Amino acid sequence: MGEGMTDAAQIIPQEARQRVTAPLEQAWTLPPAAYFDDTLFNLEVENIFCQDWVCVARAEQLPNPGDYVCVDLVKQPIVVARDMQGELHALSTICLHRAMPVVTGTGNGTRFVCPYHHWTYELNGKLRSAPMMEGVADFEPSACSLPRLALEEWHGFIFVNMDTNATPLSPQLTGLEALTEAYEFENLEIAETIEFDSPWNWKILVENFMEAYHHIGPHQNTFEPIYPARQSSIPDNDGAPWSFLHMPGVPHTEGQTSSFPNLPDDRRDDLFAAVVFPTFLFAASNQTGAWYQLDPQGPGEMHLKIHALVHKDMAPHMDAQGRAELRAGLTHVHAEDITVNQGPWRGLQAPMTDQGRLSLYEKSIWHLNQFWAKRLGF
Ligand code: FES
Ligand SMILES: [Fe+2]
Repeated sequence: MGEGMTDAAQIIPQEARQRVTAPLEQAWTLPPAAYFDDTLFNLEVENIFCQDWVCVARAEQLPNPGDYVCVDLVKQPIVVARDMQGELHALSTICLHRAMPVVTGTGNGTRFVCPYHHWTYELNGKLRSAPMMEGVADFEPSACSLPRLALEEWHGFIFVNMDTNATPLSPQLTGLEALTEAYEFENLEIAETIEFDSPWNWKILVENFMEAYHHIGPHQNTFEPIYPARQSSIPDNDGAPWSFLHMPGVPHTEGQTSSFPNLPDDRRDDLFAAVVFPTFLFAASNQTGAWYQLDPQGPGEMHLKIHALVHKDMAPHMDAQGRAELRAGLTHVHAEDITVNQGPWRGLQAPMTDQGRLSLYEKSIWHLNQFWAKRLGF
């Protein structure tokens, strides 16, 4: 951080920073400004969203050559495309001419044609042609390319990183992989998706997703009887950029067939939730998985897609009723969570609000806070 530039330490007083980075037993939550301050959000964009791995798609969303999916990485619109050789590319969609997005939405095609002046790009981002540019000095279309992002596929999840020199992701996830491999994420596919505009800070949702302490609150009649808060546990992550929440269940699945043949019997009643920081959220029971795809757009703005994932052998056999039940289940639980996202979002902006103490059942929040503090340089 250069001389004269704002850094997080100038906005968050030293005492508040020390409360965040203290060992879990002594730790406090992030200060309220971490959730609504515009400067801190811009620092998150610069130091987290421009440098960390973000999950943007599932591989089965792009099964064929020419398939593409567009997503926004905060302010950066990107496209993930499968080229004719089957290779995946992640590219900025912004035209090299006058900044028009060359593609939006999802689809299949052999090239991207900018709607403005028809500059035409290959699926790997190379500029193939630019009409009426004769006589323009030192302009060689074949030397031009849409900016690339790093891309890694992890068990069917496609992660991208705007920092092409970033440390590869998979080696950082070996600990998480060991905890989740029985679920064979690569065999899942998206069965249903529900979408929400979520006008609150993205960290509020991540925190809520990663602790079972609140089962005794909004989920007292849904999760708490099956996955009691007090049984939940969160292993150490040794400073890696992920966290894992284990929610052992009271026996309730006897006679059910599990979607995951390699899931040990003693884990069949359990639920887990996992996060790869900053925003990859995933949960699974012995039947289905849920991927929460977050797209933060500002300190208090976020679009959320909740995808229900089922085993790929099961997906073709799902009838309309099964799908409706899947949607209803996710919608119901999320409605319970919305109340405890909206409330704190309002509360955090109240002038008399300060940091709060963390329960030991909220170790994942402490993990997030250590990640956040490290990225923001304190
Ligand atoms: S902005 Fe894309 S061709 Fe002009
Ligand atoms: Fe919840």
